Amino acid sequence: MEFNFKGRDIINGYDFTTQELCHIMDTAMIYEKRVKSGEAIKDCEGMLVATLFFEPSTRTRLSFNSAIQRVGASTIDLGNASVSSQAKGETWQDTLRTVDGYVDAIVMRHPQDGSAIEAAEIAQHPLINGGDGKRQHPTQALLDIYTIRKELGHIGGQTITFLGDLKYGRTVHSLGYFMQQFGNKMIFASPDELKMPEDITKDLRSKGADITETSDVREALRQSDLVYVTRVQRERFPDEESYLRCKGSYILDRKMVMETNPNITIMHPLPRVDEIATDVDTLPGAAYFRQAHNGMYLRMALLGLVTGRI
Ligand code: CP
Repeated sequence: MEFNFKGRDIINGYDFTTQELCHIMDTAMIYEKRVKSGEAIKDCEGMLVATLFFEPSTRTRLSFNSAIQRVGASTIDLGNASVSSQAKGETWQDTLRTVDGYVDAIVMRHPQDGSAIEAAEIAQHPLINGGDGKRQHPTQALLDIYTIRKELGHIGGQTITFLGDLKYGRTVHSLGYFMQQFGNKMIFASPDELKMPEDITKDLRSKGADITETSDVREALRQSDLVYVTRVQRERFPDEESYLRCKGSYILDRKMVMETNPNITIMHPLPRVDEIATDVDTLPGAAYFRQAHNGMYLRMALLGLVTGRI
């Protein structure tokens, strides 16, 4: 099958066919092998990619910066607000319009819901959404399915529990669509205040997703092949009081894993605060740091594909 990703914006988790998802994962796997073999990759030599992060990030920003250089391209980074003309009141739209004239592709994260859609309309070059508000984080969800396939040996027909802040956690908003496409059953386990937004659950069900909603974390773990934990997204709460009500409402620790499902695979987009106890880290199923590492290969694949160099 022929795929054409050249010039394409990466905005939502629901913009890909299942064949395209498999092609992206296969491309990431090839890059992983090439990097591990010590090859100096030059696929995107001569290209320049900008990273514009209007919101804090470690993994997305640095794995993109690593991926850009590892495919042979060069990168420029906007830096934080104090060193750019944001400090003089420039709008993000004007910043983007300007940078679009310098580069061949742009990675952007912004706290505003829907900013990625607006950005893609402004930019002439491919726009990759590194997270827009509480809406979508498609490159995270792509690296998540790549990790699920590696950790479980295949993807499809499994039961996945999403545990935690499903309301504000944009990674699960994107990942839910991929799980539906691969025919994975989903269990949404969260406190009532942090339930998956109804429009997303409804949309997923209308596409045929098998979803159970529960607050019984132990039973969800017993029934699952994999648990995907998210942190309480403090920065997205309307006020501190609502955050404090939810803070610490679920914590996965080693004892709970051993008592319910010792073989379960555990993922988390990171950063974590306290929702996975550090005594879980040494369990064989604790995949979250491997997951973060996979992000670099997946982002190399995306860069190669949207620039049309592979
Ligand atoms: N998972 C993720 O998006 O991490 P960062 O916020 O550190 O980029």
